[in-house]
Amino acid sequence: ETAEIGLIGLGTMGANLALNIAETGHKIAVWNRTRARTEAFAREADDLAAMLVTTVDLSEFVAAIARPRRIVLMVPAGKPVDDQIAALLPLVDAGDVIVDAGNSDWQDTDRRAAALAREGIEFLGLGVSGGAEGARNGPSMMAGGSDRAWAALAPVLQVVAARFEHDPCVAHLGPGGAGHYVKMVHNGIEYADMQMIAEVYGLMRDGMGQGAAAIGDGFARWNEGPLASYLIEITAEVAGSIDPDSGHPMLDLIVDRAGQKGTGRWTVIDAQMRAAPLPAVEAAVTARVLSGEAEARAEGAAIFGEAGAMELPERDLESALMAGKILAYSQGFSLLATASAEQDWSLPLPRIAEIWRAGCIIRSAMLGDMARALAEAPDARLAFAPDFAVALEAHVPGLRRVVAAATLAGLPVPALASSLGYFDTLRQARGTANLIQGLRDRFGAHGFERTDRPGARDLHGPWG
Ligand code: 6PG
Repeated sequence: ETAEIGLIGLGTMGANLALNIAETGHKIAVWNRTRARTEAFAREADDLAAMLVTTVDLSEFVAAIARPRRIVLMVPAGKPVDDQIAALLPLVDAGDVIVDAGNSDWQDTDRRAAALAREGIEFLGLGVSGGAEGARNGPSMMAGGSDRAWAALAPVLQVVAARFEHDPCVAHLGPGGAGHYVKMVHNGIEYADMQMIAEVYGLMRDGMGQGAAAIGDGFARWNEGPLASYLIEITAEVAGSIDPDSGHPMLDLIVDRAGQKGTGRWTVIDAQMRAAPLPAVEAAVTARVLSGEAEARAEGAAIFGEAGAMELPERDLESALMAGKILAYSQGFSLLATASAEQDWSLPLPRIAEIWRAGCIIRSAMLGDMARALAEAPDARLAFAPDFAVALEAHVPGLRRVVAAATLAGLPVPALASSLGYFDTLRQARGTANLIQGLRDRFGAHGFERTDRPGARDLHGPWG
């Protein structure tokens, strides 16, 4: 019993997190399903050997950890997590804490937390963001679970986490699946952010004829202003990189088909089930799906021809990204508020914005302002908070010009356009659903309410 903590699953994320935990002064036992991986890890981590206990079978791993044990799982979401927990159960003791640090479905986490509680085992569902680099040097972490599970892990997580100034980017956000839920929404926002960036890239490339290097320079300039963020920064890097084999811009050689592991789609499905509008993420998920339909796109290009050219000042593109980002985050935080009320989680929205300021993929300068706005008006829609309303007034005209120019040229901007549609719908006091209700009543006698008879329901029109 020499290790303070244990970790199972030495894939990229697990190996990097284990190294981070070891380097921050915690002796850690590690175990992987395939022994060869454990051995390779031990060789790579040779300089931290004194802080590592590599083990070859699971009982040896469990026995190596001081009690009450803290065991972090970093295995693929879904069945592997259930299988791993089932394998651990006969070996652990009441009071031990199991942490699932993968991208698990929050409903699975709720279920596992309840099942383990019946066995006297504490469970923490931990959303970990920041990719491989974050896991190694400091991720942002979103914890859900019992107070005891959090208390057992907090001292380690607070040291391992990224820091924004001195503040560790980790927090206990609620019970059960609350942490994985917030991580899921983080990923949904990540999808929207990336899609809007890709749309602006498309306008620069196809509408304005810019090469990858010039596009990279544009993003690098924006990264000096209010858009400053990790994703804009690495867009500049990716667009500016050259393939060493061919000498061409790397970006030009990457196939235009985006993968997805599921969290964006889960976010959209969850939002729909709660009737929480999330159009920017919906557009981003759909765009990834359509990116896979390469043959259809080639056929469509042959039938209808490619889009035309457009010209816009760089500041309009910057404004489109600013307004689009504010609107997408506003949608995301509204979803968190809705879910928090429905699940009775009391999610601390300002704290969530704070722990996203460093370590995670969507870290950006704007998140500090968002945390302040959410703290000042906890129930407000972010887009209507005074500072963001002022920013939208300033940047929506640019977003409008970008969506209009792209639309006239025939260039797709589904996420930017959907955010603009969301904005314009929100400022339309008298909407158009009166016609929807009239039609529903006309064809199905579904009934409507009248503006001139408040309170009366299920009224019908004079038709047929
Ligand atoms: C993060 C990322 C991380 C991962 C996602 C990407 O916050 O560190 O979101 O969780 O990169 O799995 O998801 P897709 O494969 O669906 O793009």
